[in-house]
Amino acid sequence: MSAEEINNLIILKQRELEENFAGDVRAGLSAEHKYIPSKYFYDEEGSRLFEEIMKLPEYYPTRSEKQVFEKYRQQMLDYIGGENEFNLIDLGAGDGEKTKILLRHFMEQKASFHYTPIDISKDILDLLLDALKNEMPQLKTQAVVAEYFDALQWINDHTKERKLVLFMGGNIGNFEKVDAVGFLRQMHDVLENDDLLLIGIDLKKDPFKIIRAYADSQDVTAKFNYNLLNRINNELGGDFDLQHWEHYASYDPHSGATKSFLISLKEQDVYIDALKNTFHFDAFEAIHTEFSYKYTLGEIDALAKKAGFKREKHFLAEDNLYVDSLWRVKK
Ligand code: AVI
Repeated sequence: MSAEEINNLIILKQRELEENFAGDVRAGLSAEHKYIPSKYFYDEEGSRLFEEIMKLPEYYPTRSEKQVFEKYRQQMLDYIGGENEFNLIDLGAGDGEKTKILLRHFMEQKASFHYTPIDISKDILDLLLDALKNEMPQLKTQAVVAEYFDALQWINDHTKERKLVLFMGGNIGNFEKVDAVGFLRQMHDVLENDDLLLIGIDLKKDPFKIIRAYADSQDVTAKFNYNLLNRINNELGGDFDLQHWEHYASYDPHSGATKSFLISLKEQDVYIDALKNTFHFDAFEAIHTEFSYKYTLGEIDALAKKAGFKREKHFLAEDNLYVDSLWRVKK
């Protein structure tokens, strides 16, 4: 795997990531039901908009997860045991705001650990590293810029010590259900017996509450979605006219699938220079841009089992909206 190292930041396969954008847009916009993979949300502007989403009154998962961390941080430390060195791996770390609740507590308790934040966005990791240097200069940190699957490979090749992996924020919901099992199985395979995974999962609940979280009154989520079209315009020379597109979110209470779409408001053609191709859209044709699956506690237990983990504990938010579930690797 190609890697570039700058101080305590390792960048894996960044070039391949950029090249894949064009190929994935071509594949997605040529499909019968058009789509763009949601990992492309997170350029600098997309990451900034996601930060804004997390502060919205309607977007409850971030606040619920913070509350879980504040309430259960000592119990979480008890499970891993802070006497012997462990690696706290934060997959999809983002700005690390929630993780800092654990980091501060673990440091106050003099736990013996080092921190490995991993994210697809170099910009957000740069900010996180700066913040940590100021706020927790003693913390041993090694950041990695990588996509999830490359990150798992890196963990497999470069970490031998005990691990507590954080996979928070409901990120598992962005996988289709079968892919979630496949991904977690792969995670299980790169971890050692008794390593721990703390996975944050959004729960099934009142459908109206979910819809409001993905179609907020200030249209920040809409801007987050439109940013995909801006990215295609800026990076691939597309000519999407944002006036003719609308954000649409839906929720299916049976499957738990929240889906986001961009809807073409009229029949239109869009040229993308980097692909030397024109794509046709019928009026009200949709581009699917994101899944955000919701689960029940029972479905979470079944997921843990399918992926080879033993569920130790559900740390449930006081509002019952969200859970951080602690799983142990069993081999
Ligand atoms: C990152 N991910 C878990 C968020 C979610 O809830 O699916 C991304 C997001 N999309 C719209 N709002 C937030």
